[in-house]
Amino acid sequence: MLGGDTGRAGRAGASILKYSETMCGIVGYVGHREAVPILLEGLARLEYRGYDSAGVAVQNGRGIVTRKLAGRIPALTELLARDPVHGRCGVAHTRWATHGAATERNAHPHTDCEGTLALVHNGIIENADLLRATLTRAGHEFATDTDTETLAHLIEDAPGASLEERVTAALGHVEGTYGLAVICAAEPHKVVVARRGSPVLLGIGDGEYFVASDASALLGRTRSVVYLADGDLAVLTPDGYRVLDRDARLQVRPVDALDGDFETLALGPYPHFMLKEICEQPETVRNTLRGRLLPAEGTARLGGLNLSPGQCARLRRIVILGCGTSWHAGLVGRHLLEELAGIPVDVEYASEYRYRRQLRLPGTLTVAISQSGETADTLEAVRAARAAGSLVIGIVNVVGSSIAREADGGIYLHAGPEIGVASTKAFTSQIVALVMLGLHLGRRRELLPLEAGRALVAELTRLPELVARTLELDPQVQALAPRYAEARNALYLGRGVNFPVALEGALKLKEISYIHAEGYPAAEMKHGPIALIDEDMPVVVIAPQDAVYTKVISNMQEVKARGGRIIAITSEGNGDLARLADHQLAVPPCSPFVSPVLTVVPLQLLAYHIAVLRGCDVDRPRNLAKSVTVE
Ligand code: AGP
Repeated sequence: MLGGDTGRAGRAGASILKYSETMCGIVGYVGHREAVPILLEGLARLEYRGYDSAGVAVQNGRGIVTRKLAGRIPALTELLARDPVHGRCGVAHTRWATHGAATERNAHPHTDCEGTLALVHNGIIENADLLRATLTRAGHEFATDTDTETLAHLIEDAPGASLEERVTAALGHVEGTYGLAVICAAEPHKVVVARRGSPVLLGIGDGEYFVASDASALLGRTRSVVYLADGDLAVLTPDGYRVLDRDARLQVRPVDALDGDFETLALGPYPHFMLKEICEQPETVRNTLRGRLLPAEGTARLGGLNLSPGQCARLRRIVILGCGTSWHAGLVGRHLLEELAGIPVDVEYASEYRYRRQLRLPGTLTVAISQSGETADTLEAVRAARAAGSLVIGIVNVVGSSIAREADGGIYLHAGPEIGVASTKAFTSQIVALVMLGLHLGRRRELLPLEAGRALVAELTRLPELVARTLELDPQVQALAPRYAEARNALYLGRGVNFPVALEGALKLKEISYIHAEGYPAAEMKHGPIALIDEDMPVVVIAPQDAVYTKVISNMQEVKARGGRIIAITSEGNGDLARLADHQLAVPPCSPFVSPVLTVVPLQLLAYHIAVLRGCDVDRPRNLAKSVTVE
């Protein structure tokens, strides 16, 4: 079981995937106390979920008053100190922008045309464009670029005598995920909450009730919580709460007792954010894919690319820029884009690229990969590429970050905040984004046949499940980690699309356990590193079933012949490698285009468990920062 070494094993009995969640944080309150201090406290605790903009809406007895801004909770607290609002019923939000830049205008809460209701939302409304068009034709005026605002206008339009009736009617038109809380002027002491796909829980107090995206927001306020299930709708007033299903039938939900401190609850059952983020990958991969796959057309819809048909046809060269883990994703991207779109690709360390002479080559597309979107070297390389006349797209996780804003277009990962300094879920989502980019360009340039496109879309569709199955290797990884926790060096070997995974595995081990490790193309080993191999040198070999599998086997024989100890990452059904490998970790069989998304997972877990055994600060490793905003 994951996380046993920190004594959390018992409580983490339920499936580890139950806690995967992404993006924003919502909070709500109705009761006998001033709402704002309670809302701000909750937001501060949820800021690790999203921190690019925030806001509150409170019933002040005369209607609804909203305060919001682009920025973090301390700034919102200052704003409310300068311009306070009073009331005992309100909702609040801290954002991780997905639709619409991180601006004050797009910050939540969102209201309807008359400001008679206010709503906060965590999730993605997939048919927002359609709903917006219909509502606009019906005369509604939209004030933001967000998908969420459609919900406010839908409720405004919906039939029903009570807020809960109108919310239920409105949600009947919605496709996508939501955890939402809404208040309205007509019913001043009521909060209505609904859940589908995004986590929401209720806090039960004495004559007061709370709403939150996760329990960490309620610490110190109540120890009694009700976790809403998908499809639930709850009505909170000072007199009590009700949980209803889609047909307004009363539902009974258990009241759970909360224990543990903030760090514990924000982390859920996980001892570290890195492990939590490794385990979130089935969901984060699903979020990167969400709403982008077109099975019938055998392609991916990437609305944010802003690549005109002419620009797409004139593409002659792709230059990928990145640093660290993002550079490794770029190396995987080279294989994918050359194979799927037939365009030659160069992958550059951004820090080197920016100081080299930029050659103006028409038809060059520059792809800047960055989780934070703020890495100085990558940002400057983007500026250099633009100055050299290249079109630039960004593959970025942080919405509204500098690289996202300076690129001509791009792909957001939607992987949610990555707190652990060692990047994990961003890497797998970067590869998924690159597969979709290859698919999109290959189909648009009529290089990739429809059937091949459809097959890859089908493979991407089942990928979240394959990642979930790969995570079940954890007990095996945890069991073998103690044998390598005292190692001084390690070698990672891979071929083709999995050579960059070898580099990534080595980087993870270096970053968090401080063991020196190197990644190498497996065939390159004979040209030097093989001299390092002896019984003290753990060698991790990535050997999934693919076109170079037999070649990798011969490299494993070369290692074995020199007494090296091998951990093999192979494919289920690959047959027994016991003759060659001391340990075998088998990932589900899959297309070579997506295999790095699976083969990297056991390497993330191996680095994690070894670092924990060595007593390292896994989430805040020495000498490292999550976003390197300086040269
Ligand atoms: C990876 O685990 C490291 N945190 C680091 O190498 C990182 O990938 C690099 O600094 C690039 O960051 P970015 O993706 O935010 O640009």
